[in-house]
Amino acid sequence: MNTNSQILVALDVDTVEKALALAKQLSGQVAGYKVGLELINSAGFGLLDALREAAGPNAKIFYDCKFHDIPNTVLGASKAAARRGVWMFNVHASGGGAMMKAAVSGAESGAAEAGVPKPLVIAVSVLTSTSPEVLRGEMGVTRPLTEQVVALAKLAQDSGCDGLVASPLEIAAIRAACGPDFLLVIPGVRPAGADIGDQRRVMTPGEAVRAGADYIVVGRPITAEADPAAAARRINAETAGNTA
Ligand code: C5P
Repeated sequence: MNTNSQILVALDVDTVEKALALAKQLSGQVAGYKVGLELINSAGFGLLDALREAAGPNAKIFYDCKFHDIPNTVLGASKAAARRGVWMFNVHASGGGAMMKAAVSGAESGAAEAGVPKPLVIAVSVLTSTSPEVLRGEMGVTRPLTEQVVALAKLAQDSGCDGLVASPLEIAAIRAACGPDFLLVIPGVRPAGADIGDQRRVMTPGEAVRAGADYIVVGRPITAEADPAAAARRINAETAGNTA
């Protein structure tokens, strides 16, 4: 691991082999790895142990599971995720305060049972793929999108969550509402001049960190490069010394 890096690299690949190859290449360059639903459903949970072997025992693994179910089920799932020794996992804030409290409680008890540190529990507010029109028209949420994001951020904080996954453009509003200690994990980051792909609302790594990101989630600008380690080094150089 590179403890000065703020990069969580999104391992959005569909085989164990590809994920481990990337993890090895990047092991000295990134803060940690994001394992999402595509990879875990393709590779199975053994991947988490294999990743630790490839990247070192202190590898920070962010399990991007986005739990959203009744509190009792989320409690059990969170316990299980914690027992696997993940460093961080997430839940949908729209599941409500009781559900988020259950996630935090499961993280504590699962970690205690397994004798590992309690994972960080962060919340997803409104998916960045949800437009204001969908939020209002399909979901029936009448307050403006940023207000909804900030309200869910506060609910997540009051429920004991450690932070939030948020779009770069929401960082300032959430920081103002939730203070400096609420962890902000920011995808939608693109180095200057990079292909933005399907991301719409982007900032450069330096801008996101200056705005208050604790970690940036970066996928294709690293994983699709011929030399992923060099791409990660460039991003580290850009964010170094930029902390707000
Ligand atoms: O390749 P790219 O850098 O766009 O990857 C970003 C990663 O962050 C992907 O794994 C994507 O699912 C995730 N993500 C996102 N926007 C969100 C939440 C997660 O792009 N709002």
